[in-house]
Amino acid sequence: MTTFAIHTYGCQMNVRESEAAAKALLDAGLTPAADEEGADVVIVNTCSVRGKAEDKALGKLGLLCATKRERPGRVVGVMGCMAQRLGESLFRRVPRLDFAIGTRCAERVAPAVEAALAGRTTLALSDLHARPDAPSGHMPGGFSAFVTILLGCNRRCAYCIVPDVRGDEWSRPAREVLAEVRALAEAGVREVTLLGQSIMNYGLRTPAFDADDPPSPGGYAKPFPRLLEAVAAIPGIARIRFTSGHPSGVNDELIRLFRTEPKLCRHLHLPVQSGSDAVLARMRRGYTREGYLDAVARLREAVPDLALTTDVIVGFPGETEEDFLLTRSLMEEARFDNAFIFKYSPRPGTLSATWEDDVPDAEKARRNQILLGDQDLRGARLNQALVGTRQQILAEGPSLRNKSRWSGRTSGNKIVVFAPPPGVRPGDLVDLVIARAAPQTLYAE
Ligand code: 5AD
Ligand code: SF4
Repeated sequence: MTTFAIHTYGCQMNVRESEAAAKALLDAGLTPAADEEGADVVIVNTCSVRGKAEDKALGKLGLLCATKRERPGRVVGVMGCMAQRLGESLFRRVPRLDFAIGTRCAERVAPAVEAALAGRTTLALSDLHARPDAPSGHMPGGFSAFVTILLGCNRRCAYCIVPDVRGDEWSRPAREVLAEVRALAEAGVREVTLLGQSIMNYGLRTPAFDADDPPSPGGYAKPFPRLLEAVAAIPGIARIRFTSGHPSGVNDELIRLFRTEPKLCRHLHLPVQSGSDAVLARMRRGYTREGYLDAVARLREAVPDLALTTDVIVGFPGETEEDFLLTRSLMEEARFDNAFIFKYSPRPGTLSATWEDDVPDAEKARRNQILLGDQDLRGARLNQALVGTRQQILAEGPSLRNKSRWSGRTSGNKIVVFAPPPGVRPGDLVDLVIARAAPQTLYAE
């Protein structure tokens, strides 16, 4: 019995691709290992979005390959964005590496493992301009699943390596997405999260719907809201999430769907990156501070209980104290429920990597700390405001810290710890009143 483990860095897209690779290995007769240490096959799925993410993965791969001295039959492979970016050179950097599989070719992982077990190495990188296959296999047994609907990205933000490692933007045909969600629902999945780097572009660059697809009952003309509506109509699906958003996709149809479709979760991840127009323009984000805040205002007017989360980069080339303070004030104006704050990291081949990385690391760290501190206070305040409200919670199972309690998530994606009602099963929806709030967690009785 050959066992495997996949160690995943990076975004949900990677989590999804690791899952598809795992399912393919299961189908090939391998077994998931109880722990990574004991696994005969270890695969590292990598991220390139910041230099640190790559350093971590390289360190991890070095350690894993070192274990092959004592365990010569062990297989160590790498997949994902860093594999796509560094390709063949990885075999020089990581001695004894068995395979490197790039993005958009997760179906090559199982054959690469088989080749490695037979003593052969594999290098498979994807053609970033060809029509890609989306990851399709799912591990059995879950009540929540990721479904990739859009691959690649064509936005070309100045700092971002994604277009160079994940390739051209391409939308999966709606009928393929809907068939996948239907099969998941039949297998017991209650919640789906649709994935795409710039997901609101769904169906805009490559067509998603065919002329003979059924018309939208709600009259949605734009492909993304139309797809969300069709996913919501699938029996068994109780909740729909999606990520990531961009203000250009916040149109009247999407807002109408948020207002009228109860299955669409009241949460939007809308990366802002900066609150300064000068920085946003250099980032090539395609919106201004006012445009972003206007999208937020339109959403909030229609959906007052919408939870909003974001990504922010501090220390982008040329970011002054004034620019930084504009980001700080925007975060308060937008009232983010949560924010992921990153120190700028120049990525080879991107536009901004040709500019001087002129904000010193200590200054990036200071700005990062200030925004984190603000966000902690804001998050705690917004959580406190939920005390006394009734929330619909998707029950996940016993809480990690206290097994007599369960945890789950609200529609707004907040973690709730609660006393499990009799007979509750993972994947059930329960309605509970929030009794107490901590900065990162809500508690219900
Ligand atoms: N440096 C720092 N953060 C980055 N991100 C993307 N590229 C970089 C970079 N070069 C952040 C953005 C993005 C998130 C996934 O990672 O905030 O939304
Ligand atoms: Fe990167 Fe911009 Fe695409 Fe997001 S939209 S993945 S930040 S290029």
